[in-house]
Amino acid sequence: MIEGPTRRLRVGMVGMGMIFEETYRPALEKLHRRGFWTPQTGHVAVELTAVATRTGIRAEKYRQQAGDRIGPFVSVTEPDAVRKLLEVGVDVVCVASPDDRHYPAARLALAMGKHVLLEKPSVLRLQELDDLLQLAQDNGALAKVVYHKLFDPDHKRLRTLVADHVLRHVNNGYCSLLEPKQISQKQFAEWISGRNPGSYVAVHYVKLIDFTFFHGTATRLARITATGQRGLVGEVHGPTWDSVQLRIVYVYPDGREAAFDIHTSWVNPDNFPGYVEQEVQFRFDNAVWNAHQRKRGVEVTIEGKTPTEYKITPNHHYNACFLEPWGERSQRGYGIEAIERFFEEVAYVEFGGPPQERAHRLAEMRALAYNDLSADRHTVAVVHALEEILRRHLAGQSDAVVYVNHPRGGLVLAVPGREELEVLYEPRV
Ligand SMILES: NC(=O)c1ccc[n+]([C@@H]2O[C@H](COP(=O)([O-])OP(=O)(O)OC[C@H]3O[C@@H](n4cnc5c(N)ncnc54)[C@H](O)[C@@H]3O)[C@@H](O)[C@H]2O)c1
Repeated sequence: MIEGPTRRLRVGMVGMGMIFEETYRPALEKLHRRGFWTPQTGHVAVELTAVATRTGIRAEKYRQQAGDRIGPFVSVTEPDAVRKLLEVGVDVVCVASPDDRHYPAARLALAMGKHVLLEKPSVLRLQELDDLLQLAQDNGALAKVVYHKLFDPDHKRLRTLVADHVLRHVNNGYCSLLEPKQISQKQFAEWISGRNPGSYVAVHYVKLIDFTFFHGTATRLARITATGQRGLVGEVHGPTWDSVQLRIVYVYPDGREAAFDIHTSWVNPDNFPGYVEQEVQFRFDNAVWNAHQRKRGVEVTIEGKTPTEYKITPNHHYNACFLEPWGERSQRGYGIEAIERFFEEVAYVEFGGPPQERAHRLAEMRALAYNDLSADRHTVAVVHALEEILRRHLAGQSDAVVYVNHPRGGLVLAVPGREELEVLYEPRV
């Protein structure tokens, strides 16, 4: 029996592509079925109320497929889709449109005081980040980013061991995330022109490194370099990148440095045994940590089905469909947990206590550095630098370096062989 009045959150969804299908859809369907309950908020109902997409085709397809797994929702399309979505009346907006379209959507939603959840990369420039933070502040809304890798039990354990000083003083490491060709050539074909796989997925690892090893410490992000390859997704001299190799360097207060190489690509074979290939290695003063995202014990081969329909080494921790021991069908994993947690944070602000204490609850939720936009400065700084370094490369100026909090500015770009420095972002990062 549900005690007390049921509270309701109306959700607006911007973008219904791959990530909607993998995480938002299962989260919203489960929330439609049962809402959630916390001691502070009581029962909260969450309903998908409106969706904004470019053409509306995916929305209609979903409506047909979902049947009663989801409630009635309004579908709006471009032009001006986000404004139309806001006019329907929502409390929360989830932005899962292509990377370079997050900023205008989030801007409109925050300006109207809606809580916003952004897919990564949140935005592509620090100036955009500042603007969104100001709007969130002025309008009393939460602005959060999805970093589901921080919910991965292996990464939680890594952070626990770092926090407990079992793993001491990280010196360097590498991360790699390789996606199949179908991502660049089919799934993202509409918006891939001019984009790169680094801004899109290296951010997962930039955030993991920044949050796990350096958040709340005096160690500073110091410089960013990158290079990449072209010629498969687009023209060899064009603006669309096949692969990107990014390096970020931190400096400890005593002058020791830590460097991380993050390799990303979206032109790998479609018949990967596990679809996405991801691994990390971190080396400490006293330890080495190796992790593979999908080689966690399960290996399965099914005639005619693996590795396309089913994966040979699946990551069931991220997201999988289960028949629960009590007979229920479910879809769960840390990818979905990250979305559900956001709704709990919003509900805590809105319903978690007396209205006169809302500002206090809002401040409490904003202080959560794992997902708050205010704690996304380093990640956005790296994306901003990467985008600019690749742009220079395109213009024949390869191997540029971006310095963070340089005497000349917050983000300062230097091109080898050229004396003048360019300030990309003036304030301190
Ligand atoms: N968290 C993760 O691990 C993860 C994984 C994949 C993608 N992403 C991020 O999610 C976002 C979307 O990626 P995807 O893989 O779902 O892409 P996708 O190409 O599969 O889908 C994009 C969706 O956005 C819609 N769209 C395009 N322009 C729009 C506009 N102007 N207004 C409203 N909707 C618009 C399209 O109609 C489509 O439904 C990207 O930012 C991507 O980086 C995150």
